[in-house]
Amino acid sequence: MAEQKEYRVPQHVAIIMDGNGRWAKKRFLPRNAGHAQGSRVAEQICEDAYNLGIKYLTIYAFSTENWVRPKEEVDALMNLLRKYMKDSIERSGKNNMRVRVIGDIRRLDEDLQQSIRRLEEVSADNTGLCFQVAINYGGRDEILRAAKRMARDAADGKICPEELTEEQFYGYFDTEGIPYPDLMIRTSGECRTSNFLPWQLAYSEFYFTDVLWPDFNKKELQKAIEYYNHRDRRFGGV
Ligand code: FPP
Repeated sequence: MAEQKEYRVPQHVAIIMDGNGRWAKKRFLPRNAGHAQGSRVAEQICEDAYNLGIKYLTIYAFSTENWVRPKEEVDALMNLLRKYMKDSIERSGKNNMRVRVIGDIRRLDEDLQQSIRRLEEVSADNTGLCFQVAINYGGRDEILRAAKRMARDAADGKICPEELTEEQFYGYFDTEGIPYPDLMIRTSGECRTSNFLPWQLAYSEFYFTDVLWPDFNKKELQKAIEYYNHRDRRFGGV
């Protein structure tokens, strides 16, 4: 009898939610309507991901480069995030999700920073999905911030630079303690990683789909997992 290959669910999935603007344009709607639908889809995907057995989910909500968008669009995105954080403070008690924000949040409005800190605090001991939202996140910026903190510790004599390991350096990252993503999904047909988790994605499988983010759903997530199951992860071996 042919040997049955074990079905693997990725432990950590990272998603670049692209195509909100095009989704809205196709419907003669303002771009912000695409972002609003995109944020509803993000919430649903958290539930679906966890039900499928995924333990960690990281999404790219706002990059360090997104500030150049028109002010009205930046404000709309910040308001969606503001609402998400506020609502989740109460909701996290019910859905058992642990939420963390990665990125440099110091540039965000004070009230949003406070909601983020509060949500991270109240959800810290939850044992369900570990959900990371990247806001004002840039991979190079994260590496640079990590290097600066590490250099400070070296200057203070807390660490010896020559003996520093990759694992120890990772301890300075925003995603410290979180396993590297097994699978990265990008929607809307673009095939690049756009400064998203460059260190963490070094050995991840990449899945690109033409589906626009607001049309993404559980079935599409299952297709990505299916694709992942056909990959042979060798991590540099043979
Ligand atoms: C890319 O689409 C999408 C973004 C820059 C923002 C993504 C943010 C959300 C979906 C909302 C926040 C999430 C939560 C959890 C509340 P695009 O605008 O670049 O699309 P386009 O390439 O079609 O123009």
